[in-house]
Amino acid sequence: MEPIPKDINEARKEVERLRAEIRYHNYRYYVLNDPEISDAEYDKLMRRLQALEEAYPSLVTPDSPTQRVGAQPQKEFAQVRHRIPMLSLENALDQNELREFDERIRRFLGVSEPIEYVVEPKIDGLAVELVYEQGRLVVASTRGDGYVGEDVTQNIKTILSVPLTLDSYKGTRPIPELLEVRGEVYMEKEAFKELNKQRLKQGLPPFANPRNAAAGSVRQLDPRVTATRPLNIFCYGVGEVRGATFKTHMEMMICLQEWGLRVNRPHMRLCPNIDEAARYCKELEEKRTQFPYEIDGAVVKVNRLDYQARLGEKARSPRWAIAFKFKPSQATTRILKIEVQVGRTGALTPVAHLEPVEVGGVVVKRATLHNEEEIKRKDIREGDVVVVQRAGDVIPEVVKVITSKRTGKEKPFRMPENCPVCGAKVVKPKGEVVYRCPNPKCPAQIRESLKHFVSRGAMDIEGLGEKIIDQLVEKGLVKSPADFYSLTKEQLLTLDKIADKSAQNILDAIERSKHTTLSRFIYALGIRHVGEHVADILARKFKSIEALARADEKELEAIPGIGPVIAESIVSFFQDPQNMELVNRLLEAGIRPEPPPGTEEPTGTQPLAGKTFVLTGTLKSMTRSQAKERILALGGKVASSVSRNTDYVVVGDSPGSKLQKAQELGVKILDERAFLEMLEGKGDGQ
Ligand code: IVH
Repeated sequence: MEPIPKDINEARKEVERLRAEIRYHNYRYYVLNDPEISDAEYDKLMRRLQALEEAYPSLVTPDSPTQRVGAQPQKEFAQVRHRIPMLSLENALDQNELREFDERIRRFLGVSEPIEYVVEPKIDGLAVELVYEQGRLVVASTRGDGYVGEDVTQNIKTILSVPLTLDSYKGTRPIPELLEVRGEVYMEKEAFKELNKQRLKQGLPPFANPRNAAAGSVRQLDPRVTATRPLNIFCYGVGEVRGATFKTHMEMMICLQEWGLRVNRPHMRLCPNIDEAARYCKELEEKRTQFPYEIDGAVVKVNRLDYQARLGEKARSPRWAIAFKFKPSQATTRILKIEVQVGRTGALTPVAHLEPVEVGGVVVKRATLHNEEEIKRKDIREGDVVVVQRAGDVIPEVVKVITSKRTGKEKPFRMPENCPVCGAKVVKPKGEVVYRCPNPKCPAQIRESLKHFVSRGAMDIEGLGEKIIDQLVEKGLVKSPADFYSLTKEQLLTLDKIADKSAQNILDAIERSKHTTLSRFIYALGIRHVGEHVADILARKFKSIEALARADEKELEAIPGIGPVIAESIVSFFQDPQNMELVNRLLEAGIRPEPPPGTEEPTGTQPLAGKTFVLTGTLKSMTRSQAKERILALGGKVASSVSRNTDYVVVGDSPGSKLQKAQELGVKILDERAFLEMLEGKGDGQ
């Protein structure tokens, strides 16, 4: 590190420059989601600032980025009166109620033309108000009863995405004298799970959901505890503002973002009328589980602020906004029975059979209980009344037991000592939570592997549904996936509800499946820990099943995206003579797995070797880390900032300043399509 300046004035200048720089990088990272420097470079700036402040304590200010966690635990929170009450929202339970809302508004305003709305996700966290005076955060408070909340300033300051000082980053809008910003503090779903895992390890009670975890963390008397909690914020509105005016809600949000406040820009949509708004509400509902944080609805807001002002509010809610509520993703029902299922790899999974109940618009009859530990931890018993939850396409799960509904007749669960299907004694490998049936001939395992083999991401054999496979196994016609390829029409005609035409369709589908890709074939084999993505990496690297079968652990572990567990699993799969026999039989049956295009370089080198990529913006078909992995798997490099050494800048939606930089430097720019073509080996980015 550079020596500390001897002159305090010089130190002051450097401190101020560092703070501005750190603020700018916070803005790039938290607000624009497009960092310009690496974490290590950022840490270096922070360390330098800390060293200077240590040498000159008089230079420390409360809004210095080093002062996020300075405060001592408090005895209680002071009260804060909101200058403008923090209201709540009225709910629309369906699309009709949205239309009624629109009609009410037009009637009130006396306009016949369509009203423009902004629709945004309703974040399930806790509402806070941040007060900035002359651009400095002076108070942060909870909503409380809407009029008076609690002063949680010290805690909110520990949230790294909350700016302690505002800046006009684009220089187009000066910072107002007073800005009261409202937003939702929340915890991401993954972070919540991780936090609960840690709490369980420490013997602490877990939080019921991310909202409770966020609320509990903000209402912590010791800010040092809050600082350890992975909290985040989205700002969605304002209270009182002095020194700035806006015409629309959207303009206001963009302005808040320019000042360094985090708003949910990528998911806010301007809708020209209520029909579009309603459509986007539905879209958000459908996508709800794909969000990394919980959303419990969509908020529809009149965009024009002059209309908002005219509409005003009712007792507790504004007339210009409404919350479109999503169907609850949780419901209460009873566990009729707990059954143990045997999976493809022999894993025993307890499953709850439920009294049918509607969750998130679908009738649910079963829920996974994961494993024995989970059942013990939640104390789930047969006959219990439970809360079930559906998280997207995945199988519903039991969240908790409503113990107050117990009658005493509920039956605790015990894992069976023998496989419920084949009777083999079950085993529990050391260090694992899962019990397994060790018998590779177990009919359940066979059935599940067969289903996996024909599934859409694998060999994609249409027409071979669950019921047909069950019959084929029962009749002893199919014991291994290779047996599909010697099935005859006569054999298929012996099955229930199979006539000539469907038998022929099945045979055709089986025949078609012989033309497949190497990655599908690898995936279809059902090697433990080898999902579609890993299969794809392996196909690109090895180009033939024979080469993959010969690979040793060292070779495998050297591949980006493949760790020791996967490597070990692949090697032991191919060491098993039965598995090799399966592979050989499949190849003999005529399956011709094609290596991915573009991997057949004459020299055998990787096609993107020596090329450096920079990613900016959001891609539709993959996440940034997936894009990175794919580039690495093809031998390319990924850098975090654009320079003359960059070969390609891949540009997704809402790109950051990297795009501009690339244009300035004349670096080749790839849109998503060109990028995908390059990954597939079809284009060269020209
Ligand atoms: S606008 C006058 N926008 O929902 C209230 N609220 O029931 C204007 N919320 O207390 C609120 N995400 O805590 C608004 N994008 C969003 C929101 C949002 C979450 C919460 C907020 C509010 C509650 C209203």
